[in-house]
Amino acid sequence: MITFGTFDLFHRGHSNILHRAKKMFDRVHLVVGVSSDSLNMAKKGHLPVVPQEDRMQIVKGTKGVAECFLEESLQMKLHYCVKYNADCVVMGDDHAGRFDFLRMYGIEVRYLPRTQDVSTTDIVHSILARGTSGT
Ligand code: CTP
Repeated sequence: MITFGTFDLFHRGHSNILHRAKKMFDRVHLVVGVSSDSLNMAKKGHLPVVPQEDRMQIVKGTKGVAECFLEESLQMKLHYCVKYNADCVVMGDDHAGRFDFLRMYGIEVRYLPRTQDVSTTDIVHSILARGTSGT
């Protein structure tokens, strides 16, 4: 099984999806593609707060994660699935539909409901708001 993400400022939404993915099947080998800094720059227009080596270390250290690699390109999803022998892709449902094309290659695709009320973007905004309000 494989999943992808930035996992910047690692939060409970991130740990939830990894734990839920792991719990879906017995003895599943969970592989995580962590978006590289340059890929984030290209897709979101800014660098993550936490550098890629640190994000990889945090994800690797999360219970249930068997393997972790740097995702360098959005166009290489199928390549990564083949390379890591993944027969199933799991993502949060904010990505619904984006991975459906993998089904034509016999790869199962599941979207899990996102954890409510937490995101890296919200955390960054709340830190910035504190900076200006002094609280
Ligand atoms: N995720 C989730 N619930 C959340 C936040 C993220 O299930 N509250 C899932 C995403 O759907 C994705 C994985 O965690 O499958 C990695 O998400 P990522 O984009 O790194 O996290 P976000 O917090 O959504 O980051 P951003 O605010 O920058 O979009």
